[in-house]
Amino acid sequence: MVVWVTGASSGIGEELVYQLSKLGVSLVLSARRVQELERVKRRCLENGNLKDKDILVLPLDLTDRSSHEAATKMVLQEFGKIDILVNNAGRSQRSLFVETSLDVYKELIELNYLGTLSLTMCVLPHMIERKQGKIVTVNSLLGIISAPLSSGYCASKHALRGFFNCLRTELATYPGIVVSNICPGPVQSNIVKNALSEEVTKSVGIDVAQSHKMATSRCVRLMLISMANDLKEVWIADHPFLLIAYLWQYMPTWAWWLTNILGKKRIENFKKGLDADASYFKTWKTKHD
Ligand SMILES: NC(=O)c1ccc[n+]([C@@H]2O[C@H](COP(=O)([O-])OP(=O)(O)OC[C@H]3O[C@@H](n4cnc5c(N)ncnc54)[C@H](OP(=O)(O)O)[C@@H]3O)[C@@H](O)[C@H]2O)c1
Repeated sequence: MVVWVTGASSGIGEELVYQLSKLGVSLVLSARRVQELERVKRRCLENGNLKDKDILVLPLDLTDRSSHEAATKMVLQEFGKIDILVNNAGRSQRSLFVETSLDVYKELIELNYLGTLSLTMCVLPHMIERKQGKIVTVNSLLGIISAPLSSGYCASKHALRGFFNCLRTELATYPGIVVSNICPGPVQSNIVKNALSEEVTKSVGIDVAQSHKMATSRCVRLMLISMANDLKEVWIADHPFLLIAYLWQYMPTWAWWLTNILGKKRIENFKKGLDADASYFKTWKTKHD
């Protein structure tokens, strides 16, 4: 089995390839930073289940759409097939709309939305030819609900969810092709540190508290279970995040009331230079763990 993972140099993608390497599948590791990908490859090989030839490091900038066709050809040349494409690479945002350049919104759409579509567009004809394959996209709970300070990120993830739900209906005549949306809540990774802020050249850049977030290994384990079972959509989060998502789905009036209270605190923390979520969700977790 051949699995191509984008965003394999850090966070969820990195952990995903470690867990996949233990299952003995051939891997294609993509992201922009080659040195980080080589580091991840070395760690995958330490498991002893894979040989050097089973892991292809394939540098890829998701926003450079003109390179995606050649990258796909390279994978097919190397392994002859792509069983699973995991669209995982992405960036988040921490800034208020009124203080943010439009370029930030363009970048988030170029990367999270159009970059993902472009790579999928290159890989899908191959899956259609074989009448089988899985397209797994790491979306977010923010593709379902919304929160302040992430308006461009929310928009890109909502767009992705709409797109892939539509694509699934277009592929209904190919029951062997599975389209999955994975929607995690907060997970330990570099997502906040790498998040865009008011300008496209400016990221948050600092390490933030992680203890209130789900462990990366648990998130990835649940992702693998959902992938193995061909789930169309999966929400992966601890409470209270999961509860908030359910409120948005089934009790939207309550959800707005609660989101406004939590959102106000999130903005206050952000303006004080504190991590937007850590303080109050950490308190909640300590009380309920
Ligand atoms: N962590 C969370 O709380 C959380 C929650 C919900 C959803 N997600 C989603 O999970 C996915 C992975 O994020 P993460 O949490 O693991 O964050 P992360 O640690 O910051 O990893 C992001 C990955 O995306 C890659 N990437 C960024 N820009 C890229 C570009 N232009 N081209 C190719 N690759 C690029 C990065 O590699 P390079 O810098 O080397 O290119 C890195 O490997 C994202 O789609 C994110 O939206 C995360």
